[in-house]
Amino acid sequence: MFKRKTFFVTGCAGFIGSHVAERLLSLGHLVYGMDNLDPFYPREIKEENLSILAAYPNFHFEECSLQDLKDCRWVAGGVTFDCIIHLAAKAGVRPSIERPGDYIKSNILGTQAVIDLAEEIQCKDILFASSSSIYGNLSTLPFDEEMNVSKPISPYAYTKRANELQLFEAHHRLGLNVCCLRFFTVFGPRQRPDLAICKFIDLIKRGQPITLYGDGSTRRDYTFVDDIVDGVLSATSFLARGASHYEIINLGGGEPITLSTMAYLLYEKLGETPKIEYHPMQEGDVNYTHANITKACNLLQYEPKVSFSKGLDLYIKWLAQHE
Ligand SMILES: NC(=O)c1ccc[n+]([C@@H]2O[C@H](COP(=O)([O-])OP(=O)(O)OC[C@H]3O[C@@H](n4cnc5c(N)ncnc54)[C@H](O)[C@@H]3O)[C@@H](O)[C@H]2O)c1
Repeated sequence: MFKRKTFFVTGCAGFIGSHVAERLLSLGHLVYGMDNLDPFYPREIKEENLSILAAYPNFHFEECSLQDLKDCRWVAGGVTFDCIIHLAAKAGVRPSIERPGDYIKSNILGTQAVIDLAEEIQCKDILFASSSSIYGNLSTLPFDEEMNVSKPISPYAYTKRANELQLFEAHHRLGLNVCCLRFFTVFGPRQRPDLAICKFIDLIKRGQPITLYGDGSTRRDYTFVDDIVDGVLSATSFLARGASHYEIINLGGGEPITLSTMAYLLYEKLGETPKIEYHPMQEGDVNYTHANITKACNLLQYEPKVSFSKGLDLYIKWLAQHE
């Protein structure tokens, strides 16, 4: 029998957050969302995401920063949540190298504010969006959750690892039930404009050359956003069943693709002739990502359903409808 739950979703105006919130709302759950509409990419994109959510009467939104969470009106108003889904963060590897302080404020202090909120309102379950970037340039593939991840190569990566550690301490001290999901390069409709697939499609459509950093042999384990949403929802059910967990779980697509393959596939799908320029690798970029998803399959019955090629088709179709 359906049991309506109340979720607090941080970062709900963003790419993944808007998809997670939309799925929860469409299932009939109550969603309290917050986001500070960070200027990392245009506010209009986030407002459009919010307008989709605002069509649901069970959606409530407040524009505020993680750092000011205690002033959020629902917190002051005594709303309680079954689960906090903490997706808000300053994302992006390269800008984190230029402005590490901003990432420390939003991601480390922001996550501490989420933990403090959970303690104050006695919300036991926290699900956190971690990242494959935590694995850095480890050479043993695929990456599994037991690997020693003490060599991050960007501030973004170390803030995400710090968040996992902050949440472990909170689990230990407060008995919080925590699931850190390490997302592997998520793509699909409403994708962030800073991500390579989005940038490449734009350049290809305008007849401009695309730039590949490195020789094209770097590989990414791409994950379609609907598969990530499935994993997030399974993780909330897993937490609801458990006593006091602390789990770190990879969510990947399981099908690493080289940068060259990705670029040529885009040209093929868009029916254009390849125009590619090669530049040296950029600081902070990892060489390979590949998720071992055995733990996700076992604990969350996670099974990615959308192949990279199919996901690109869906994304390109979505873009065409939004031009
Ligand atoms: N997209 C990916 O491939 C990917 C991969 C691994 C991990 N992640 C993580 O998943 C989460 C969602 O990523 P996304 O791709 O949807 O990014 P996104 O930038 O679209 O969404 C993040 C949202 O958080 C908000 N935000 C940032 N700082 C905030 C603050 N201090 N207070 C309140 N809101 C704040 C932003 O305005 C944004 O809407 C992030 O935590 C990100 O680190 C994403």
